[in-house]
Amino acid sequence: MKQAIFQKLVVLMTLLFPASLVLAEFQRGEHGMVSSRSDIASEVGKNILEQGGNAVDAAVAVGFALAVAYPAAGNIGGGGFMVLRTANGEVYTQDAREKAPLSSNRDMFLDTNGEFDRQLSRNSLLASGVPGSVAGLLDALERFGTMSREQVIAPAILLAEEGVVLNEDLANQFQRNISAFEQYPASIEKFSNNGIAYKAGDLWQQLALAETLKLISANGRDGFYKGPVADMLVATMQANEGLITHEDLENYEPVWREPIHGTYRGYDIWSMPAPSSGGVMLVQMLNMLEPYNLEEYGLGSAETVHLMVEAERRAYADRAEHLGDPDFYDVPSTMLTSKQYAQLRFTNFDPALASLSDDIGAGSWPQESTQTTHYSIIDAEGNTVAVTTTLNASYGNKFVVPGAGFLLNNEMDDFSSKPNTANGFGLLGGVANKIQPSKRMLSSMSPTIITQGDAVFLVTGSPGGSTIITTVLQVVVNAIDHNLNIENAVSSPRFHHQWQPNIIRYETDAITDQALIRLRAMGHQGLSISRFSLGDANSIMMINGRLEGVSDPRNVGGTAGF
Ligand code: DON
Repeated sequence: MKQAIFQKLVVLMTLLFPASLVLAEFQRGEHGMVSSRSDIASEVGKNILEQGGNAVDAAVAVGFALAVAYPAAGNIGGGGFMVLRTANGEVYTQDAREKAPLSSNRDMFLDTNGEFDRQLSRNSLLASGVPGSVAGLLDALERFGTMSREQVIAPAILLAEEGVVLNEDLANQFQRNISAFEQYPASIEKFSNNGIAYKAGDLWQQLALAETLKLISANGRDGFYKGPVADMLVATMQANEGLITHEDLENYEPVWREPIHGTYRGYDIWSMPAPSSGGVMLVQMLNMLEPYNLEEYGLGSAETVHLMVEAERRAYADRAEHLGDPDFYDVPSTMLTSKQYAQLRFTNFDPALASLSDDIGAGSWPQESTQTTHYSIIDAEGNTVAVTTTLNASYGNKFVVPGAGFLLNNEMDDFSSKPNTANGFGLLGGVANKIQPSKRMLSSMSPTIITQGDAVFLVTGSPGGSTIITTVLQVVVNAIDHNLNIENAVSSPRFHHQWQPNIIRYETDAITDQALIRLRAMGHQGLSISRFSLGDANSIMMINGRLEGVSDPRNVGGTAGF
């Protein structure tokens, strides 16, 4: 009881005095560290750690707090992945990815001419997969947490009920999306002040969401997947040609899967397996890079960029062919992550010449045929959690479930609705990722933990759709090959290639001017400055037992350590 009052006080203080929340992007600590896209959510996680909760308790509290304080991607109506390493060195991954509803079908986003209807796959209720976040967070808490459900959800309830003082970032986001929210009464009600845009400094309360969170706190997963919240969700589906039924909700289960494990220059890489493409591709690309001396080539040099782009080109071609939900499709993860495969796949690498993406099909053994968010947490014992969670697009399909106060995802767009037709991130796919009832759509989310010997070295991950995997790759290479500290490993400008389209997008200064000239001469096409920043990698590094956390300076956010 005392603990609950203390918790309430701490949260209230942070609400009423937002100035005290101007947390550093970079923090050091010894006992615990949380890095997320929301300073409020990071503070919630730190409070849980300070009260004696472990990293999983904190991760669940942060997950629910993000659903309130960072609604573009924090969610209870979406899904996510968790990579968890316990203090004794066991690694687990949890797949709480959304699933296609039972009555979905392969061609549901094709019009009468067989053309892919992007509107339908992104901006309708058909775009929503069956949400996985609530089941995932609660299951993680039950298996690995030490605190009660009520304790870890309490901060989120309080934030929703008492309100959050809007910062510039959130107020601007709401304003930018106001015309999308205007399409749906419950959305405009939630994200505006009676139709008038909120301003920074306004108090923003979410009373309907608070009631939903209370039902989850009281009844566990049944508070979301059954009862009044489920009734409201299903009623809204029925009224708006959506597919999710009570049966879909009741059937939803998160899955614990074998982590993807690889090695890179003496470090161990632990990341998310399929239906994420992230872990497989990260290890595959690191395997391709390992024989080369990137440290000597230097950051942003033509040699480094060329090498990494060629690894990316091959890995993304493989993604389109080979990756999908392993419960439905035989994903060749062992082949794709083996050192031998990387060597074979790189035999046509020319150090002086760009490959043409059209010439790079998917590989096989020659003898055979704006929005997601990532947070990282380490506790005093060394338990480590990396979570990436999403509604897919920023604010998902923009549809708030009337009465229940939460946004729905538009994750169905991550399926390959039509072979060789790009999804919202320009990604291609085929049979492996076609829509099937109850199947999970392929993801790029790559929560990752890197260890050296018995110790955690790095916890990282990112949003950014297709750019997630190359963002994580660069954080890892910056830390391991270029010996950058966590601040620089994360802030260092990035570039991205994804096989198709055959272009290199880069942030200003990611590639030196001289390197740009050389890359063009090697035949690299479409080198262009990205209109958007690439990724948002809220990460933690452990150096000699000391924690260094950084929230990616590309966006506001906060680290909270002690
Ligand atoms: O799971 C995926 O790969 C996508 N739904 C992630 C979307 C995303 O990162 C958008 N963020 N900027």
